[in-house]
Amino acid sequence: MSLKGRSFIDLYDFKRFELRRILDTAHDLKRKQRRGEPHELLKGKSLAMIFMKSSTRTRVSFEVGMTQLGGHALYLSPSGTQLGRGETIGDTAQVLSRYCSAIMARVYAHDEIMGLAQHATVPVINGLSDLLHPCQIMADMLTIEEHKGGLAGLKIAYVGDANNVSNSIMQGCTIMGMDVTIGSPKKHDPDKAIMKRATELSDRYDTHLEVAHDPFEAVKNADVIYTDTFFSMGQERDKEKEKDLMPFQVNQELVDAAKKHVIAMHCLPAHRNEEITDEVMDGPHSVVFDQAENRLHAQKAILALIV
Ligand code: CP
Ligand code: NVA
Repeated sequence: MSLKGRSFIDLYDFKRFELRRILDTAHDLKRKQRRGEPHELLKGKSLAMIFMKSSTRTRVSFEVGMTQLGGHALYLSPSGTQLGRGETIGDTAQVLSRYCSAIMARVYAHDEIMGLAQHATVPVINGLSDLLHPCQIMADMLTIEEHKGGLAGLKIAYVGDANNVSNSIMQGCTIMGMDVTIGSPKKHDPDKAIMKRATELSDRYDTHLEVAHDPFEAVKNADVIYTDTFFSMGQERDKEKEKDLMPFQVNQELVDAAKKHVIAMHCLPAHRNEEITDEVMDGPHSVVFDQAENRLHAQKAILALIV
């Protein structure tokens, strides 16, 4: 099936060859941008961007990405639109579809993005929900390919809070043939429904997927160590959860327990010296700013293919 006209909400809905196509397009667009070659594939097109939560990378990379593709993006916040005064997601989706060629949204409940997609007549892109963060994982896989030369057969260990980012890692990395270990405290195991779907994917693609409750066990033989904030947007800080998660901090000792040339990743924003130490963030294994840059290239590829 072609990617044109499809929404990009959940990596589970995509096949390996489709994610491959997005990654190949992203590498190509990155090369073109570096060489200064024009690639105005979306001339005259507009992207509506709804942000129910804060953002630095997602907002800037989508906006700059649309400009580089010859199009234009509009930042819409609840307080600056009628969404904040009770206009429904469904009506908003229908109206935006009459002006724009695609809608990108960052929401709280995953149902909100599903509701947008249900009512929109243009493709909808998930710019993060409480459940998933698929655009992030496309940028991450682009980064892993650049540093490791491929994806299939590598092991990624996500260590820390099992959240929207680790949920999308379990799906995207598994589809691309990577072995995935989630290292998290027993009390904070991954979402059950997502785990079930990811297990289905790991059977289909013949990869290894597991949850380890010991961080050192999790990173054994890892080619990639990944972490994210202990408290995602919308969650209250909680002393007990922090105490449970501190042993899963990505520090030098943990990095040293993985493969020698392991790369350390974080989707950012980081809470330095909480889930990741300065030593690792700024150290030789870190690729966190390459990841941030690659949001731009991966999302340009998604936009160019689905719009
Ligand atoms: N990683 C990420 O999505 O960053 P922002 O919250 O800054 O968009
Ligand atoms: N898990 C984090 C990711 C931020 C990009 C959050 O949802 O806040």
